[in-house]
Amino acid sequence: MLMKNNPSTKFRTGNVLVTGGAGFIGSHLVDELIKLGYGVAVVDDLSTGKIENINSKAKFIKFDLGSKLAGEKLQPILKNIDHVFHLAAIPRIQYCLEHSNTCHSANVNGALNLLNSCVKNKHIKKFIHISSCMVYGASDVLTVSEDNPVKPKTIYGVQKHMQELYLDLFTRYFNIPSVVLRYFGVYGTKRHSESGSYPNVTAAFSRDKRIKNKLTIYGDGEQSRDFVHVFDAVRAAIMAMRSGFCKGEVFNIGGGEPITINQIATYYKCPIEYKKARVDDVRHCTADITKAKKLLKWQPKISFEKGIKGYLNE
Ligand SMILES: NC(=O)c1ccc[n+]([C@@H]2O[C@H](COP(=O)([O-])OP(=O)(O)OC[C@H]3O[C@@H](n4cnc5c(N)ncnc54)[C@H](O)[C@@H]3O)[C@@H](O)[C@H]2O)c1
Repeated sequence: MLMKNNPSTKFRTGNVLVTGGAGFIGSHLVDELIKLGYGVAVVDDLSTGKIENINSKAKFIKFDLGSKLAGEKLQPILKNIDHVFHLAAIPRIQYCLEHSNTCHSANVNGALNLLNSCVKNKHIKKFIHISSCMVYGASDVLTVSEDNPVKPKTIYGVQKHMQELYLDLFTRYFNIPSVVLRYFGVYGTKRHSESGSYPNVTAAFSRDKRIKNKLTIYGDGEQSRDFVHVFDAVRAAIMAMRSGFCKGEVFNIGGGEPITINQIATYYKCPIEYKKARVDDVRHCTADITKAKKLLKWQPKISFEKGIKGYLNE
């Protein structure tokens, strides 16, 4: 239900649009925004998201953001919206490789359609764009800061980078106030396991355990990744919305420490089958979160140990 500002809350609330609000991260974000008193509209085509993920207090509008009619459908929705969180995407590395055009439509055309519609709605206070560490691609350094070169090595990474490029252009030339969060591996409930990327390892391990009671690890398992709990990721998005940043500033959002695949496997307490390493697998990738800590005043509150144990006990 969309609403008027609630003066009793510390922060003025208002109406927000969450694209991809039926998905893993989007649905957690919707729940939190509703708890905080915001009126929330969700646009999602349910391609990977699930209707049961959508909070019953949100107004749900189903359509494909990448379609030709998306602009028309967005107009009446955006009329009452103060903030836009853009999460709708097909965030699957292997799928994007095999279906690059379909994913281009969802990931790139979807973002472009949304941005074009925002240009016509000057009252929108901020566009919070959820990007990915996949824009960095291969890196020789262990820890990746926002100043690292952006050189994606997957189709998905290229498409996430294209979203960022469009947003940067629209921020500079059409004055869309914006902020970009580059999430690292987000984990937590409602995560699905179809994507083959390592940031999805928690969900992939859960599926392995359920189906065959044996985990598959590609390579020696000593490759490391960075993980952030979905509650911390959602908190960062809300802090970005409430912050003064509006010129397309980019922030890494991650746990800030390397976790090896072998370390994660120990929490699952079942046998491991090691398979040949994947070609081009990035060996290490940890988020440098100094900028988010210093400027956004955000840092993760849930340690990986606490978060993964909670996730596995749910
Ligand atoms: N999960 C992670 O670890 C992670 C890491 C970095 C960045 N991200 C980014 O976070 C965002 C959300 O990812 P997620 O893990 O929740 O994925 P998800 O697949 O669970 O959610 C994506 C949602 O977008 C919807 N969607 C896809 N294409 C659409 C379209 N054309 N029109 C309308 N809706 C569409 C899907 O139905 C789904 O509900 C994505 O932008 C992703 O790139 C995720």
